[in-house]
Amino acid sequence: MPRTIIAGNWKMHKTAEETGAFFDAFLPRAAALPPEIEIVVCPPFTALALAASRTNGTRVRLGAQTMHWELEGPFTGEVSAPMLLEFGVAYVILGHSERRAYCNETDRTVNWKVSTALAQGLTPIVAVGETLDERNAGQTDDRVIAQTRAAFDGIARNLLDRVVLAYEPIWAIGTGKNCDPGEANRVMTVIRECVSGLDRTPILYGGSMKAENAGAYMERPNVNGGLVGGASLDPAGFAALVENAKV
Ligand code: PGA
Repeated sequence: MPRTIIAGNWKMHKTAEETGAFFDAFLPRAAALPPEIEIVVCPPFTALALAASRTNGTRVRLGAQTMHWELEGPFTGEVSAPMLLEFGVAYVILGHSERRAYCNETDRTVNWKVSTALAQGLTPIVAVGETLDERNAGQTDDRVIAQTRAAFDGIARNLLDRVVLAYEPIWAIGTGKNCDPGEANRVMTVIRECVSGLDRTPILYGGSMKAENAGAYMERPNVNGGLVGGASLDPAGFAALVENAKV
């Protein structure tokens, strides 16, 4: 069985000061949450140092929201894997639809980043998902299959145990219109089966997941957790979501 992960993707939210306030409220609650669920928080780069100092020695693991595929070089504004590792970052979200849409992230650069992350000992959380137009045109499965295969192109099969996937239908992100859990589970099965070696890979659902609907996803066999945006920003709400993700 893949392990269960609930990962909070804060996007461009929270200063270091606000991050401190989040952990003040969240860490006492985290101790009482189901121990089998791995809790990951992905703050902005500027809050990583503070987040690292607050989560050190706790059960909360840190992730970043993106990184460059090169280890260093003339890439103004970018951040590399070794820079993330310095803060004890364990995970990195790659190919989030917002980065694909606004920051020129492509299937090819996601593939390079996956390769670098694995080589550097970071666990990539690779996000795939279709637009509303693609869904309405019946192209959902083709889209996620193409994204998944491209992300892992040339990656050794034995490394796929070390990746995490997230199925995030773009029309469900930040809209409050979460995907039907049965349909999400169906697409997640398509994702798991389109590349051999993903049997033990956690696949997370993302797109308006919250405390009220987390349980309905988690009871589906191919859902191994969530990648949570808006509902990860409030410490009490995020703790309630993790609690409800217990299977
Ligand atoms: P949301 O975002 O939970 O706010 O819909 C999820 C994501 O983009 O990872």
